[in-house]
Amino acid sequence: MKSNIALIGFMGAGKSTIARALASKLKKEYIELDSLIEAKAGKPISDIFRDDGEPAFRSLESKTVKRASLNTRAVISCGGGVVLNHSNMEQLKENAVIVYLQADQDVIMQRVKGSEDVRPLLNSADPCTTVAGLLAARHPLYEKFADIIIDTSDLKIEDVVKQIIAGLRERK
Ligand code: S3P
Repeated sequence: MKSNIALIGFMGAGKSTIARALASKLKKEYIELDSLIEAKAGKPISDIFRDDGEPAFRSLESKTVKRASLNTRAVISCGGGVVLNHSNMEQLKENAVIVYLQADQDVIMQRVKGSEDVRPLLNSADPCTTVAGLLAARHPLYEKFADIIIDTSDLKIEDVVKQIIAGLRERK
């Protein structure tokens, strides 16, 4: 029986917020991969991208996935690009049910605009086109690796949590 739950999905899908709420509801540990990466690097994600480049970030991300996968009874919030590396997902799947938090593109745009997080990949002249391109490339990957898919576009946090718990029960 897999005791971890890993949340995947695009930036702004609400992974961290939902993971925190779900962990509290299920009395599991909340783990945020991006925070672990920042702690390991000793600087924010945006600085890692700026100083060391995306490949260095992805390498740190993979190491962090490996370590986080050793946990049990954890809800793991993953960065939006975790699916780019298949071995990350193989690692996570060993002990985690994978939940894809989906959201419409316009909802994502609203959420990332209103967020304080600096997201290096969206720091472009035309973030709308960037989001559209990344979403088109990644949506099939999120779907491929997901055990449960939830469209969060019109849902409140507590309803997403309820749907995830219902999805987990159905799998039993
Ligand atoms: C990324 C998403 C970010 C963070 C990094 C790269 C991505 O996490 O890991 O900026 O490639 O989509 P969030 O999805 O939590 O914003």
